[in-house]
Amino acid sequence: MKHTKIGLVGLGTVGTGVARILLENRARISRACGQDVQLARIADVDITRERNLNLPEGILTTNYEEILNDPEISVVVQLIGGLDVERKIMLQMLEAGKNIVTANKALIATCGKEIFDTARKCKCSVAFEAAVGGGIPIIAAISESLAANEICSIEAILNGTCNFILSSMEKTGGDYSTTLSQAQKLGYAEANPAMDVEGKDATQKICILSQIAFGADLDWTHVSRQGVESVRGEDFQYAKSQGYTIRLIASAKRVLENSLEVCVGPCWVRQGTQLAEVDGAFNGVSVVGDAVGHLFFYGQGAGEMPTASAVVADIIDTICGRTAITFNTLNLWNDETCGKISFASPDNIKGEFYLRLVPKNAESQEEIIRILEENEVLVAVTLPNLAGGTVPENPAFAILTNETSEGTLCSVLNSLEQKNLLQQKPVKMRVLR
Ligand code: HSE
Repeated sequence: MKHTKIGLVGLGTVGTGVARILLENRARISRACGQDVQLARIADVDITRERNLNLPEGILTTNYEEILNDPEISVVVQLIGGLDVERKIMLQMLEAGKNIVTANKALIATCGKEIFDTARKCKCSVAFEAAVGGGIPIIAAISESLAANEICSIEAILNGTCNFILSSMEKTGGDYSTTLSQAQKLGYAEANPAMDVEGKDATQKICILSQIAFGADLDWTHVSRQGVESVRGEDFQYAKSQGYTIRLIASAKRVLENSLEVCVGPCWVRQGTQLAEVDGAFNGVSVVGDAVGHLFFYGQGAGEMPTASAVVADIIDTICGRTAITFNTLNLWNDETCGKISFASPDNIKGEFYLRLVPKNAESQEEIIRILEENEVLVAVTLPNLAGGTVPENPAFAILTNETSEGTLCSVLNSLEQKNLLQQKPVKMRVLR
């Protein structure tokens, strides 16, 4: 019987889940691959920590080069975080002719072209289903199952930490800092939560989906991005008063033939919609294709076993040869498409917005509304003052705009700041209809 040996680099949370599935379900996985599949070697910097795994004798090493230099290992599962070390190891593994399975979204979003070019040159494949949406098979869905469609838009909750924080604030009325501490205590948020709460993690993920759905090679650091740190309890109260809630939404939408509107930030989402119903640390992805119409994907976007589920599916596809077919036909980050699709100009991005503004003094509010109206940011509703939301030294007020462009709105908000009419940076959220 044919036999494939797998090397695993990184025995952290997800790596442990992958090892567990490969060891405990070897017979089933071998059947799915039509050949014997063996987890042959595992490299990690720490091989003494107890992981509650029944590992075969001698499988662990601290030296990843034992995997690199083993000619019998043809599939390498790389599950270490970070950029520099992971990049170096991945390029070495590809040069050595190994097919890669990874969950590292930061690496794919940052060095996608280099990695895919190297893989093409070395006639290897790279599979990365677990990089976006954890256990949700969104990459396979967009790249394979929806191949008949031109994708029109993606609107997604791609960060479980932020969704946990926002849905808890919605339920408990708690403030941001207390809710973040709670999320950290429960293990949903990292000790250093910056990548999540600043929206960077979701931005990297929507850029990866944009490459697959639209062929866009976007620099994720240039995406219009807002985190969840500025969301306050009163924003939820305002949203609720109009039938909405707040979620961190990562979206990508074709605006003109070769331009894409990509943004990440807290948005007003209508209560009762599928995105609004995504609760806790779950993820949800709404996709519109021209033939299929609207689809919604929902599930656990992180965690040991959901993410391991996606990684092992990639391992099986790689061994069966399915990954190689998709890898070649999709030809991601290729020279022809790279650079062809760019970010839409803010003037071409239209929408309605919620604004929470803190005027310098009581008189400034009228002046602010006059300037907004004069500059075509039409005020649809001035939201009623909230009990407790307005204190004399912080007389915040909130409005909903009619449709305007992102460009117009940003320049008007800048001018309000320059005219010294505001006490604090304005809070702006897109309203999803
Ligand atoms: N930190 C991510 C999240 C999980 O909170 O969704 C890994 O992508």
